[in-house]
Amino acid sequence: MSRVVVVVGATSGIGRATARAFAERGDRLVLAARASTTLAEVRGECAAVDVLTVPTDVTEPGALDALVDAALERFGRVDVWVHTAAVMAYGRFDELPGRVFDQVVRTDLLGTAESVRVALRHFRAAGAGTVILTGSLLGHITAPYMSAYVASKWGIQGLVRTVQQELRDSPEIRLCLVNPGSVDTPVYQQAANYLGRVGRPPPPVTSPQRVARAIVDCVDRPRREVSVGRLNVVLRAGFTVLPGVYDVLVGPLMRAAGLSGRPVAAHDGSVFAPNPCGEAVRGGHLPDLRKIVFGPVSVVGAALRRRFG
Ligand SMILES: NC(=O)c1ccc[n+]([C@@H]2O[C@H](COP(=O)([O-])OP(=O)(O)OC[C@H]3O[C@@H](n4cnc5c(N)ncnc54)[C@H](OP(=O)(O)O)[C@@H]3O)[C@@H](O)[C@H]2O)c1
Repeated sequence: MSRVVVVVGATSGIGRATARAFAERGDRLVLAARASTTLAEVRGECAAVDVLTVPTDVTEPGALDALVDAALERFGRVDVWVHTAAVMAYGRFDELPGRVFDQVVRTDLLGTAESVRVALRHFRAAGAGTVILTGSLLGHITAPYMSAYVASKWGIQGLVRTVQQELRDSPEIRLCLVNPGSVDTPVYQQAANYLGRVGRPPPPVTSPQRVARAIVDCVDRPRREVSVGRLNVVLRAGFTVLPGVYDVLVGPLMRAAGLSGRPVAAHDGSVFAPNPCGEAVRGGHLPDLRKIVFGPVSVVGAALRRRFG
């Protein structure tokens, strides 16, 4: 029987790729994020399966309770709860407005914690279920100009380990943390920016589809923590074993690889309100091989259809 999967953060990047990946497996979906227009688009992309969309702001009190209620009313059950909703902000800590810092932490850490609370209460009552969260390599290491995001991701790491310890007496309930390195999603362009230069994912960059596969895989093979990214282990080792050297190198590396040369005026990005125009699976930082291979084929196909009827 197909599962019922909730995806919070389903309108962009990893969450949107995850929604599509579960749809390809025939699972029924409950998709949540703030932008209702984009949610409707994603429902269209997953039209092969039964989809409920629920506009949801994870920072609004009661919003996630309303989400689980809507899912249960429609499908009568929830088997998997995936949480990928997050926002980002660039800026030196003392120059980033406090209201922006607070909203990033409210979304990325407190929103995730509320999602876990709501999902676990349901799964404890039901006796089983899987919660899958996206943390980050930045939950194990640090980088300058991303204080609110890094603080949130370290918080998620601590929260997950604690809850995993509390769940040891409930083996049918799983909590998995997927920690990507750099991923080609729109999150960098959507970020608030008080640094003056547009951010970008430092290489090596992986695809959101690859992270989505790791998330889907956690349902069949639940693991405490999954790392996705070729350099994650090396960077963690450098951060832990050689902290002095790491701290000397990380600033120049961040400025060279993690920021583009493009200037940008200070703005709040999608931190307080969604920006549907900027939402997509990919962020345009990696060539999309599917488009390169199938793009010309579909152009030729369209031309042939026009020519022959
Ligand atoms: N991209 C990377 O390089 C990378 C690396 C490591 C970890 N991650 C993690 O992977 C996860 C997904 O990131 P991504 O890169 O896919 O980001 P993304 O493309 O920007 O997508 C973020 C999603 O979160 C939703 N969201 C933001 N604020 C929300 C709110 N208040 N309430 C509900 N939904 C909200 C957005 O939709 P709306 O704006 O419509 O609400 C969107 O669907 C995050 O946890 C991120 O930290 C990403």
